[in-house]
Amino acid sequence: MIRLFPKIEDDLFMGLYHKARLSQWTSADVDWEAPLRLDDRQAKALARILTPVYLGEQAAMLGAAHVVPQLANAHETSAQLYVSTFLMDEARHFETLTRLYRTLGHDPIRLREMPESLRYHHRLVSGDRFDWVWGILISDIFSSLFYQTFARAQPDALFGRISTNILADESRHKAFAHYYLRWSVPRLPEERREGLRQMKEELLQTMKAMYRYLKEDSRALGIDGEEFFARLTSHIETHARRIGLEGDGDGRDEDGIDAAAASGGRTAPGGKPMLPGGWTQFFRMLLGLDPVPGLLGPDGRPLPPRTDAATAPESAPPGGAAPAGVDDPALGGRRRGWAHGLREAVHAAAHACTSCAVALLCRSRLVRATNGG
Ligand SMILES: [Fe+2]
Ligand SMILES: [Fe+2]
Repeated sequence: MIRLFPKIEDDLFMGLYHKARLSQWTSADVDWEAPLRLDDRQAKALARILTPVYLGEQAAMLGAAHVVPQLANAHETSAQLYVSTFLMDEARHFETLTRLYRTLGHDPIRLREMPESLRYHHRLVSGDRFDWVWGILISDIFSSLFYQTFARAQPDALFGRISTNILADESRHKAFAHYYLRWSVPRLPEERREGLRQMKEELLQTMKAMYRYLKEDSRALGIDGEEFFARLTSHIETHARRIGLEGDGDGRDEDGIDAAAASGGRTAPGGKPMLPGGWTQFFRMLLGLDPVPGLLGPDGRPLPPRTDAATAPESAPPGGAAPAGVDDPALGGRRRGWAHGLREAVHAAAHACTSCAVALLCRSRLVRATNGG
């Protein structure tokens, strides 16, 4: 059920959300006068081998629209906000590649010529939010390897430049998907994890089946398909281990993804973004000296640090946020005092920390009951 006034945690997903704001572009920013550096056979080959990636961009966009309400219902507000930026990213990839097809002068392979592409698309847009994020991660690993090939081989050519732009977006997508799954997969029942393992195999087989139609085109562009799929499989397996889907997980960050740096946030060893400020801030929040992340006032701004509860005014100042220790309209008129500060601080820590000793207490039935969770 939707919450009118949800918490927004100051976590890694919000870091990616703010980062996305600084990385906006559309096809209008692409230099379409840049040389193509492809002969006609190669232009046709690119149009054909780009087809699964192009389809993946559309599936990602449509799937994001489908998953936002699921994240809202699960009260995963920071992930919900981040995925809203993801939707725009995929929209511009789809739109830019559509325009690229016009420049190439060739069309994608039609669906009836490569029926596996429909199965690929359907698998990416079906299921719940965990299916979607895992499918997106696999699809983004696939597309990133593809774009990297051109960004490195032809950095000054038109598609090399477009690839460089898209890769910057895809690094955020992979960081989000990796950390979302690393946080959620260990909490899923075994049958759901098995379902995700089967999905991985299904998607890999479908991608390999699509490649059968594209061998000649890959050769025309100098791409070694066998080597490409070996790298793809290796990257996907590495992610599967590190999110806890296969084996025990090695607890290390994924190669090429520095999610903390990408987002400006921090992550705990368990993968869930950390409470900014760590223990010092936790105790400051506990004492009411600092606001609790996600606890916003009626004006949408963070509530101010606690003043002296004994001398605090009995009502919020006009146009201002309610000070601590007074009736707070954002809390349905309940009194916000020491108990409330403690409850919010424990709630924030329980969501942000997955690895410390106190996390056991935070997740205890007693605290969750106090927390309403
Ligand atoms: Fe994309
Ligand atoms: Fe993506």
